[in-house]
Amino acid sequence: MKLSLNINGNQQEVDVDPNTPLLWVIRDHLQLTGTKFGCGMALCGACTVHMNGNPIRSCVTPVSSVQGQSITTIEGVTESDLSKEANAVVDAWEDIAVVQCGYCQSGQIMSATALLKQNPNPSDQDINNFMSGNICRCATYKRIKDGIKQAAQ
Ligand code: FES
Repeated sequence: MKLSLNINGNQQEVDVDPNTPLLWVIRDHLQLTGTKFGCGMALCGACTVHMNGNPIRSCVTPVSSVQGQSITTIEGVTESDLSKEANAVVDAWEDIAVVQCGYCQSGQIMSATALLKQNPNPSDQDINNFMSGNICRCATYKRIKDGIKQAAQ
């Protein structure tokens, strides 16, 4: 089935089964491989992208459900409507050297960016609550929290 998607501000045509998870369309059809597969069950956050500026788990989102919506991936977030927050997050991530292995970090950055849009000055508890669905096997949680706080300044 032919679908038209708005990805990072570009209209993209894809020919896929409408039930295909958005994650695989992004990675395999559009070659935007910054969004990662972790669990496939909405449990880890590695696949986080934005739909209309809000974080969603692309591994459990049928591609047909995002037609007419604005999807942003890690490749486009610093030039999206959330560019101010995203650039502050990326700068803080580099400053603090948040990343260890890096696998989960595109999802972490997408969630952190959405958090700062909704709550420009989050408390520790706000950060814990919002980021709790983004798992990091290297346990970089303290640096992630520090990065979010620095980005909020
Ligand atoms: Fe989507 Fe884990 S891969 S939440």
